[in-house]
Amino acid sequence: MKDFRGRVVVITGAAGGIGRATAGAFGGRGAALALADVERDGLARAEEELRGAGRRVLARVVDVSRAEEMERFANEVWGLFGRVDVLVNNAGIALNGFLEDMELADWRRILDVNVWGVIHGCHYFYPRMTRQAGGGHVVNVASMAALGPLPASTAYCATKSAVLGLSEALRIEAARHGVGVSTVCPGVVATGIGRSLKMVSGAPGRTTEETRRAIETMMRRHGARPERVAEAIVGAVESGARVVTVGPEAFAVDALRRLNRPIYDAVMTRVLGAMLGGRGSHR
Ligand code: NAI
Repeated sequence: MKDFRGRVVVITGAAGGIGRATAGAFGGRGAALALADVERDGLARAEEELRGAGRRVLARVVDVSRAEEMERFANEVWGLFGRVDVLVNNAGIALNGFLEDMELADWRRILDVNVWGVIHGCHYFYPRMTRQAGGGHVVNVASMAALGPLPASTAYCATKSAVLGLSEALRIEAARHGVGVSTVCPGVVATGIGRSLKMVSGAPGRTTEETRRAIETMMRRHGARPERVAEAIVGAVESGARVVTVGPEAFAVDALRRLNRPIYDAVMTRVLGAMLGGRGSHR
């Protein structure tokens, strides 16, 4: 797919960060947009700005973890536009810290949003995409956490690995319907995710809130701009790429893990040691 004029693009988590930038990237190429997010104000702002730029926009407050809300959203999108050319399952949340500090509720929430959100997107949109003339494309936003394990990130890695596995398997079966599937795996991106990040463990001598703020600051200073990921998402649809990494960290994680897993593990153990200030424990 190269020409997006008049195409219909669905994006979840579109109120801010990568999702908002992706709406701008497809909108700038002439696509109509169907946007979902839980964040009402940011979504309203995005809708107004994109309408102001002359785009056709349907924006709905939708929690991707709730099947009934995603079903209603999908029905509205089909009712209004009659087709979906590109589905971007982008909404996600982050959680950092050690497994021993997690509650089961933490596991449930991150799986609900990051995995069930993508499942709901695929379940309610993809089957109809397979039946429409001209096929379509699904982009699932995973992370470098799907390409190699990261310290203090078991839950996030588990969810993003699930998204990668789902996407790669779907890609094989979707091809027979003319539907492409790409997985986009960014490294560190300067978005609002640092603000909403849930920390279950603090760094040594720091509270969980202080640790979260330090990560948020690092992400803001060193992260890639979300527009860069948005362009990678558009590029994945244009080229039909299988997996796309964005940013030097994602490239390094992918390359090193492929090269040698024991060395990769040793590097990540060193990273963890540095995070713990050489104490070997965060307590
Ligand atoms: P963000 O926090 O700026 O944007 C995420 C959006 O998703 C927000 O507008 C939020 O309100 C929405 N959202 C959260 N839960 C939702 C739910 N249950 N239903 C509907 N919408 C919901 O974060 P960012 O960075 O733009 O994240 C987008 C995706 O990129 C996520 O899947 C994230 O895991 C992934 N990612 C982000 C990286 C980063 O460093 N920022 C790196 C790698 C992947």
